[in-house]
Amino acid sequence: MNRRGFLRGISVVAGALLFGRTQTAIAASPKKIVKVSKFPIGSNTQFVAANGAPAFLFRTKSGVFAYSAICTHLGCTVAPLGKKLVCPCHGGSFDPFKSGKVVAGPPKRPLDKIKVSIQKDWIVQA
Ligand code: FES
Repeated sequence: MNRRGFLRGISVVAGALLFGRTQTAIAASPKKIVKVSKFPIGSNTQFVAANGAPAFLFRTKSGVFAYSAICTHLGCTVAPLGKKLVCPCHGGSFDPFKSGKVVAGPPKRPLDKIKVSIQKDWIVQA
């Protein structure tokens, strides 16, 4: 190996060491939604998801779950009505206790799920 090849090898190794550290992924911290102590089983609430869109959070005996409040038909915002989430635009209705499935109206697919979990004292969006 000549001197030029040796120096190139050194610079490649040095670059990998220097830039390899700076490219480490930084994990985003989960978005806190509500304290577990303030949200007993049977509760539901509206919140703003990490992407800024309106969403609904539910807590049942089996855990916590959430859905986007954006109707999957044409994008209006659904609202609670009894035990359903209902769209005011064309009457789409979704059952949040059955995976957000469509129970009435023109939407073809369920509400989008939002991943949430309980971490220590908080319900968080993952
Ligand atoms: S936008 Fe919701 S039913 Fe049409």
